[in-house]
Amino acid sequence: MPVLPQSALRPSYPIRTERLSLRPLAVADVDALLAYRSRPDVCRYVPFEPMTREAVHERLATHWAATALTDAGQGLTLGIEIAETGHLIGDVMLFWQSREHAGGEIGYLLHPDFTGHGYATEAACAMLHLGFDHLGLHRIIARVDERNEASAKVARRLGMRQEARLVDNEFFKGEWSTELDFAMLADEWPGYRTA
Ligand SMILES: CC(C)(COP(=O)(O)OP(=O)(O)OC[C@H]1O[C@@H](n2cnc3c(N)ncnc32)[C@H](O)[C@@H]1OP(=O)(O)O)[C@@H](O)C(=O)NCCC(=O)NCCS
Repeated sequence: MPVLPQSALRPSYPIRTERLSLRPLAVADVDALLAYRSRPDVCRYVPFEPMTREAVHERLATHWAATALTDAGQGLTLGIEIAETGHLIGDVMLFWQSREHAGGEIGYLLHPDFTGHGYATEAACAMLHLGFDHLGLHRIIARVDERNEASAKVARRLGMRQEARLVDNEFFKGEWSTELDFAMLADEWPGYRTA
């Protein structure tokens, strides 16, 4: 299969899914972001500590300011809103890992009050769509701490294959972490979407 051309990803916002609206984060979102990103339970298996207001502002001014992906090494983080209410319930990320290998990675976070409805899967599915159908990626991965069952279930629900189990791969927040690696290839994606 030929590698699709990749130039850049410049979505039009908001991105609508069945129940959600995805859009870049803004300073007006600080309180809503803090409501879940400052929580130790939400941050247990993600590679950052519970965030302070200052840390959220710093992120908004740097990493989260991106509204497009113009080169590998960049990430696009979008807020997840319930379309009906406009309430920000989490965020989802697409990272462009490599132009040469046409690779990307997804990540997702929800406020615990809004888990259990399929919102993370719905939002992450939209990011796979952007990565495969708009950016032309060949392969998108998700990396999950084995103890983070809810996250592994999202990857499986998306149709990603578990490719690896890296035992005690990282010394993470004071403990050894076993990493599950999930992946999906572009030619696996259309079959899933139309299933
Ligand atoms: C990982 C995380 C986003 C998963 O959240 P989640 O709510 O379990 O995932 P979804 O939003 O996709 O919801 C799926 C659940 O909703 C249920 N559900 C209800 N209605 C649904 C619908 N219409 N469609 C799909 N699933 C639905 C599913 O059955 C599933 O429940 P189950 O896990 O008990 O089987 C959340 O636990 C989180 O934010 N954790 C902290 C941050 C984190 O660790 N992120 C991942 C880093 S790798």
